[in-house]
Amino acid sequence: MKVFLDSARLGEIEAVVERRCVAGVTTNPTFLLEEAGRQPLAYLRRVVALLRPLRLPLSVQVMTSSPAEMVEQAEVIRAELDYDRLVVKVPCGWDELAAVAELARRGVAVNGTACMSATQALMASAAGARYVTLFYGKMSDAGIDAGAVVEEVARALGGAGAACELVVASIRRTYDVHECLRRGAHVVTVAFRLLPGLCEHPKTAEAVRAFAQSFVPLDAATPGTRGELQPTAARRSSSRATAGT
Ligand code: E4P
Repeated sequence: MKVFLDSARLGEIEAVVERRCVAGVTTNPTFLLEEAGRQPLAYLRRVVALLRPLRLPLSVQVMTSSPAEMVEQAEVIRAELDYDRLVVKVPCGWDELAAVAELARRGVAVNGTACMSATQALMASAAGARYVTLFYGKMSDAGIDAGAVVEEVARALGGAGAACELVVASIRRTYDVHECLRRGAHVVTVAFRLLPGLCEHPKTAEAVRAFAQSFVPLDAATPGTRGELQPTAARRSSSRATAGT
């Protein structure tokens, strides 16, 4: 299972790129409004600049409820960002499937997002979506057994290498990530605040504290000390002097 970052904050994206610990980034209109105000594309170009060296996929959601406008917006986003790892998010619905299908026909990678049921995810996949996204936390809020739905969709889409991958979003707790892993999700997209919890453990800290009791300075030879490693030029001239005696 891959981990994506669910964020549009430049500092958070920089931090995950530095660590190379995520396989993609997902944004949504709420995140973008907070960070970019009324200049989303100019802002997204800065996001792309961070992701381009690692070729990480970036999901950007359309900002309209009209399927025809979704297609137009997707083309504008594609042209403006000029990023071959762009994924356009389209919320799942009957009318919206027409946009998913048209974009897929045009070669745009689509993420059929905001799915709350297995059938929504499977219909978006059938229409040509490259990814489908289940909103785990919001499903749980509504009394749905989100883990069971993740498992159903993951099984239906197939394992690693599936043509359409299941992304699980609206992740609220570290435990949700474990559950998605267990249930076979292809991708889980998580808020930055959850990432340290995926990398750390109190027992790890305890073990490292114990190792720290045995720390000693490293006995590497440094120039200018006895038994030294000399800079190459100095070593050569000193060996010539020795040969001449
Ligand atoms: C997807 O875009 C986000 O993960 C989602 O909107 C966040 O969901 P939450 O507010 O339920 O955590």
